[in-house]
Amino acid sequence: MILVTGGAGFIGGNFILDWLAESDEPVLNLDALTYAGNLETLATVEDDPRYVFVQGDICEHELLGGLFAKYRPRAIVHFAAESHVDRSIHGPGDFVRTNVEGSFALLEAARAYWNTLGEAERTSFRFHHVSTDEVFGSLQAEDAPFAETNPYLPNSPYAASKAASDHMARAWFHTYGLPVLTTNCSNNYGPYQFLEKLIPLTIVNALAGKALPVYGDGLNVRDWLYVGDHCRAIRSVLAHGRPGETYNVGGGCEKTNIDIVRAICGLLDQLWPDAGGRYERLVTFVADRPGHDRRYAIDARKIEQELGWRPAESFESGLRKTVQWYLANPKWVADVQSGAYRAWVDRQYSGAAVA
Ligand code: NAD
Ligand code: TYD
Repeated sequence: MILVTGGAGFIGGNFILDWLAESDEPVLNLDALTYAGNLETLATVEDDPRYVFVQGDICEHELLGGLFAKYRPRAIVHFAAESHVDRSIHGPGDFVRTNVEGSFALLEAARAYWNTLGEAERTSFRFHHVSTDEVFGSLQAEDAPFAETNPYLPNSPYAASKAASDHMARAWFHTYGLPVLTTNCSNNYGPYQFLEKLIPLTIVNALAGKALPVYGDGLNVRDWLYVGDHCRAIRSVLAHGRPGETYNVGGGCEKTNIDIVRAICGLLDQLWPDAGGRYERLVTFVADRPGHDRRYAIDARKIEQELGWRPAESFESGLRKTVQWYLANPKWVADVQSGAYRAWVDRQYSGAAVA
């Protein structure tokens, strides 16, 4: 089986759903269920015999050791993290704890387990560290997109904590030989994304007739990738990537934030017209994020040339699917808004130990 950390989050949840749809191999999902962990995302697989959920924290060394001994995973896909830049500005401590100390604990537990394996299992074992393009800092308009060889220049506490974990993953390969793979991906969007991130926030605020907050001048650029394409890239690197290597993953799709918000408004005007007028009337420019990186863009030629991965979804098709998904899933949205998703674990597992 494979061990997925952070599988109740946005990308990890999509990854598990896709994995179980495409493969017979079981998945162990280890997730602490912070505010970002939502088991409702995985409701369709919770009774699947190939799926095991354990509520637990990646910082807990003993828990990790016990899970490795019990489940003997052949690979780890490490998503668990604090992931929201704005939260990292208000409270960086949680980011250091989970992203740095938690990744350290996981690498150490993986190494201890890996050392007990026989030669063939040691060779085929993989530790896949899921990271971000934000470790590379901010680009000027005229700069070339981030390549794997770009220097690390993290600007936010989130990016700094992810950079630290990338450095440890690299060191555990070079020092101990642990077969580590790292992917650095651009901004993801798609179903099941927590509502505080730009694209879902814009959709649900528009539907509620609320302001659509755009930071600063709205001209910051992100390179957007549909989450299913990211999950496919991870499966490809896990299966065929070279240990010790890093792979940049991106959509080749640079958009300003204001263009994203306008595109969502345009789709909603078609799919869910509002008698009050066009949704763009709700756009509201607000104070900028401190230290706001101006532009991210990914050069994905390495993964394309070595592994033949390319995004399947265009921005237009991916955004339409995403808007349609949020329109079609009002209960998932309402449960996040009301906090009812937090009760899911109690409801689902009442009377039974979750682990
Ligand atoms: P998310 O915030 O939606 O989910 C994170 C998950 O990790 C949650 O389920 C949470 O409960 C869990 N978690 C947090 N702390 C934990 C801990 N101490 N122990 C166990 N579980 C814990 O994040 P996401 O957007 O799905 O991102 C997943 C990974 O992908 C992160 O490592 C992030 O840095 C990376 N990434 C995200 C993006 C993006 O656009 N969202 C882009 C590139 C890379
Ligand atoms: P976000 O989804 O938080 O991702 P990240 O900061 O990790 O790239 O934000 C994407 C972009 O959208 C970023 O430039 C900040 C901007 N933004 C807004 O303009 N308004 C908002 O309400 C939010 C949440 C983000």
